[in-house]
Amino acid sequence: MANFFPRWTNLLPFKIGICVITLGIGVVAGFTYYATPKTLAVGYQPSQPIPFSHRIHSEQLGIDCRYCHSFVDVSGHSNVPTSNTCWNCHQHVQQESPKLQPLRDRFNPDHPDFGKPVEWVRIHKVPDYAYFNHAAHVNRGISCQSCHGRVDQMEVVYQAENLSMGWCLECHRAPEKHLRPMEEIFNFEYGDGDVAKYVANDEGVTTTEDLGLKLKELWQVQPRESCATCHH
Ligand code: HEC
Ligand code: HEC
Ligand code: HEC
Ligand code: HEC
Ligand code: HEC
Repeated sequence: MANFFPRWTNLLPFKIGICVITLGIGVVAGFTYYATPKTLAVGYQPSQPIPFSHRIHSEQLGIDCRYCHSFVDVSGHSNVPTSNTCWNCHQHVQQESPKLQPLRDRFNPDHPDFGKPVEWVRIHKVPDYAYFNHAAHVNRGISCQSCHGRVDQMEVVYQAENLSMGWCLECHRAPEKHLRPMEEIFNFEYGDGDVAKYVANDEGVTTTEDLGLKLKELWQVQPRESCATCHH
């Protein structure tokens, strides 16, 4: 009778062992790679060289987002303002504030930081292999609020959404949940109460999502989902 277990099977437990270990390492590495950046990124709130408050400047003083983020609706990239933008006001207001000392140093020819930019710590970032474009969203009815939350009320900016691929696609599949009239892009109080302004009252359009659906058809908004849209 032939040997039921040929010689090579002696190595089988060993081979299976190797496979299990390799798989185990793979799973752990994969989990770390996928899960860590996202779970850490939401709520990411580094401290900044100057304690700049959006709540003071946006909500209380009512300064338009575009006064400082001036490229957001005209280019792919949303800039952070230069010291000159701050200096326009702060050479006149809050001249004694210790919080603004780093800014004053940049305009003091006798200081070593003279002329240097303020090194703001970047918060939102997608990996270089993914392509993102601000103007393509802001000019198609998507508000800063959908992606960044209530920045206008933030004392210190934090990351409100995880910016994962799944998050991008969730909206690309159902943009009506977020589309709003162009006049409302910078209105952070936008809600169902604003809808009536844009529709005749016999249309049955009452919620922001109803209106979003209407705008989607009207503007023929069709966010793409093919890989090449975001991975060139
Ligand atoms: C007076 C200037 C000013 C105005 C107005 C302003 N911002 Fe900012 N914004 C800044 C500065 C400076 C930073 C970098 C420091 C920080 O993160 O607080 C910043 C950071 C941000 C960031 C985070 C950038 C990153 O690193 O990822 C977002 C998002 C943002 N602003 C959105 C908005 C929105 C939305 C509005 C309008 C409601 C607005 N900002 C109005 C000056 C301004
Ligand atoms: C359009 C005018 C204007 C611009 C532009 C502006 N600020 Fe202000 N900022 C103010 C005013 C007015 C106050 C005082 C608000 C108050 O006391 O309620 C203030 C307050 C502050 C304070 C708090 C000071 C303290 O001691 O409490 C800081 C810090 C500050 N601004 C930083 C900045 C920075 C950084 C920039 C540029 C990114 C900037 N501001 C741009 C008008 C401006
Ligand atoms: C569709 C989602 C979306 C919308 C809408 C959006 N952003 Fe962003 N924002 C992002 C993403 C994603 C990043 C990171 C981009 C990157 O890494 O290139 C970002 C980055 C930023 C940054 C940091 C840029 C830098 O280089 O430091 C600022 C400032 C900013 N956004 C401001 C705004 C403002 C102001 C608005 C509204 C006018 C807005 N964003 C609308 C998704 C969005
Ligand atoms: C809240 C909704 C929303 C989110 C979140 C969102 N998008 Fe979009 N995206 C849109 C809409 C709406 C359009 C415009 C589609 C059209 O013009 O028909 C668009 C268009 C695009 C385009 C095409 C732009 C061009 O140059 O033609 C790219 C690329 C893109 N999105 C990438 C991203 C990436 C990457 C993310 C995540 C980091 C993201 N989007 C998150 C709604 C969203
Ligand atoms: C709407 C934009 C968008 C589209 C469409 C898209 N991706 Fe992505 N993808 C992203 C973003 C943003 C990231 C970075 C996510 C992160 O930082 O976690 C990413 C990450 C990835 C990664 C890295 C692993 C990960 O999830 O972190 C792979 C692989 C990938 N995409 C493959 C694809 C393939 C294949 C397709 C087509 C079926 C596709 N993507 C379509 C935006 C997109």
